Amino acid sequence: MKLMAIVLAAGQGKRMKSKLYKVLHPVVGKPMVGHVVDTLRQIDVTRTMVIVGFGAEAVQNYLGDQVEYALQEKQCGTGHAVLQAKDVLGDEDGMTVVICGDTPLISDVTLKNTIELHQRSGASATILTAKLDEPQGYGRIIRGEDGRVARIVEQKDCSSEEAAVQEINTGTYIFDNRKLFKALGSVTNNNAQNEYYLTDVIGIMTSAGETVQGYCMADAAESIGVNDRVALAEAERLFKARINREHMLNGVTIIDPANTYIEKDVVIGADTVLLPGTILRGKTIIGEQCTIGPQTEIIDSVVKDDVTIKQSVLQEAYVDNEASVGPFAYLRPGADIGKQVKIGDFVEIKNSKLGEGTKVSHLSYVGDAIVGTNVNIGCGAITVNYDGFNKNLTEIGDDAFVGSNVNLIAPVKIGNGAYVVAGSTITHAVNDGDLAIARERQTNKPGYADKIKGRMKAKKENKAKKE
Ligand code: UD1
Ligand code: CA
Repeated sequence: MKLMAIVLAAGQGKRMKSKLYKVLHPVVGKPMVGHVVDTLRQIDVTRTMVIVGFGAEAVQNYLGDQVEYALQEKQCGTGHAVLQAKDVLGDEDGMTVVICGDTPLISDVTLKNTIELHQRSGASATILTAKLDEPQGYGRIIRGEDGRVARIVEQKDCSSEEAAVQEINTGTYIFDNRKLFKALGSVTNNNAQNEYYLTDVIGIMTSAGETVQGYCMADAAESIGVNDRVALAEAERLFKARINREHMLNGVTIIDPANTYIEKDVVIGADTVLLPGTILRGKTIIGEQCTIGPQTEIIDSVVKDDVTIKQSVLQEAYVDNEASVGPFAYLRPGADIGKQVKIGDFVEIKNSKLGEGTKVSHLSYVGDAIVGTNVNIGCGAITVNYDGFNKNLTEIGDDAFVGSNVNLIAPVKIGNGAYVVAGSTITHAVNDGDLAIARERQTNKPGYADKIKGRMKAKKENKAKKE
């Protein structure tokens, strides 16, 4: 049967007290509505209609053309929001998932289970519910004496008896599409908030003799609806725990899960160890048997197997097998670190390829460079890649040795096996196998240090006498 979805994302989210529209607030690095749309894709929804209103443009820019949109010009409630999809979806036969853009934790498995119950029982509507110790703020599921769902009552419209009910509406439902739009036609705004509640559809259906099911989710943590920053932090904590758990079950050691932040799309190989303070973001892929952290942030980067990265930041970098990075290294976009390369402390690499076995052990900047294999770049040596106008290329051949504190003024080329003497400022190419020295020759003046000290002392004494 055809499966469609309507995502409610038109509200302002007043309780967030934010300039950013509510559904665009990120949870583990991704806007909430993005998580919802991801989940719908996982259950093979054929058409997704996102209801936009506040921040419509921003939401559309973010989600792009993977979904369709309907505009709710005035936010008159969740029922009114769903009604905006009527022109496009109203005449379709099939099932429709209605889900809120502010419930990012609801999982594909839970949605599948809800749909399964819905189909098996032949219901006209199935509500995804949860049992909460503290149900405040959510709509309550009111069941009849036969245990069937009779209606949903919003917190603000609850009697004290209804408020005591712990089963809540998660804001997610499966509907027979035609029956949904038919019942919506009878919803009024006669309630505490003068809004057209989608939840009223349930009572309308049961009164008309339709069957409504409630599917109570196994893990109530999934139900969280983010209305304010307190719930946002809670959603972050829960989502993070879910992701970490999945990686641990897949063979990743996480020493301190409470202090390890892994975004949803990150991939990590087995037997990799994550130390406290590790943050893995975006489209990062980490291989097997790596040790990452402590205090390391890796964004949109690829790290192969058996790599060690300590106290470092990587962004859009590539690190090949058995390399070691840090402590305190910064790999910027285009850093391409070869096999068994050593990047040591206080080293910054940008847009540079480093061949196998090369070492940049301390205090260096390598930018816009192509460095061969088994090169040694000494302490404090840098590429001078920017002349204030252009970024220029530095090329260093295999087995070259660049001494400490060398300036390589780009564009410049150092040949294979060449040797650049410490302290040199290199402005011209050095050929294969040559040695380059470019620094002032040293002169020593015998006894001159004592002479100077004597002179200074005399000056000081003279000054003291005058005063
Ligand atoms: C809603 C449900 C409540 C449920 C809770 C679960 C209703 C009336 N209440 O309450 O039973 O327990 O979700 O989290 O449905 N929106 C629009 N247009 C509007 C109003 C809202 O698109 O005119 C969107 C919001 O952007 C949001 C979603 O609908 O993504 C839910 O609205 P919200 O105001 O957060 O509803 P709750 O009070 O949380
Ligand atoms: Ca909500």
